[in-house]
Amino acid sequence: MHPLIAPSILSADFARLGEEAAAVAPAGGDGADWLHVDVMDAHFVPNLTLGLPVVESLLRATEIPIDCHLMIEDPDRWAIGYAEAGAHNVTVHVEAAHDPVALAKNLRAAGSLAGLSIKPNTPLEPYLEVLKHYDTLLVMSVEPGFGGQSFISDVLEKVRTARRLVDTGHLRLLVEIDGGINADTIAEAAEAGVDCFVAGSAVYGAEDPGRAVAALRDSVRRTNPHRWSS
Ligand code: DX5
Ligand code: ZN
Repeated sequence: MHPLIAPSILSADFARLGEEAAAVAPAGGDGADWLHVDVMDAHFVPNLTLGLPVVESLLRATEIPIDCHLMIEDPDRWAIGYAEAGAHNVTVHVEAAHDPVALAKNLRAAGSLAGLSIKPNTPLEPYLEVLKHYDTLLVMSVEPGFGGQSFISDVLEKVRTARRLVDTGHLRLLVEIDGGINADTIAEAAEAGVDCFVAGSAVYGAEDPGRAVAALRDSVRRTNPHRWSS
């Protein structure tokens, strides 16, 4: 398998989102695997970003699969629209979802992957049954709401647990991490067993976002050449 890198457009220029997407999809093919889009509603988190109309425009502007991270209240009502619009993966927060199993089924029926996210202080264990219905687990390694925060390495224990459950066949999902991922922190996340790495400021704060994506992927490969060789 190949380490998935998902640049977060939260750190991009919102007036030029099409060009910012193109900047991480270099013609060489070593670009972003997913484009991570942070939807915030100023209720579930204190910040406000963008919603479905912007995601629909982005879907028309790029071929990169869109990874929607919904930091919103009542995802049971709103998440489905993102799946119907064509997002590749739609992630909701377990702290906000009323019926996460029904929500996962609805997302899959609408054609997207179903993702479940947990905040840094939310334990994993109570959700192991629920996670059987999900395709991705997004472990937050900062408090959701803002880019550019410091990585909270304590959450790697949850990554290790999820990795073990996937490797032993108890869960079938991709383990994704989000928050504070950069050249200094990505190796420890990779060693803990992450499959997909979201990076906002480390990509869009770099002089060449496309090269930053390739460099992050190389760092992951170097931590465990064996795992990433096949
Ligand atoms: C934070 C968002 C992240 C954010 C990460 O709530 O979910 O996706 O863009 O930004 P960095 O990589 O700068 O921590
Ligand atoms: Zn995010």
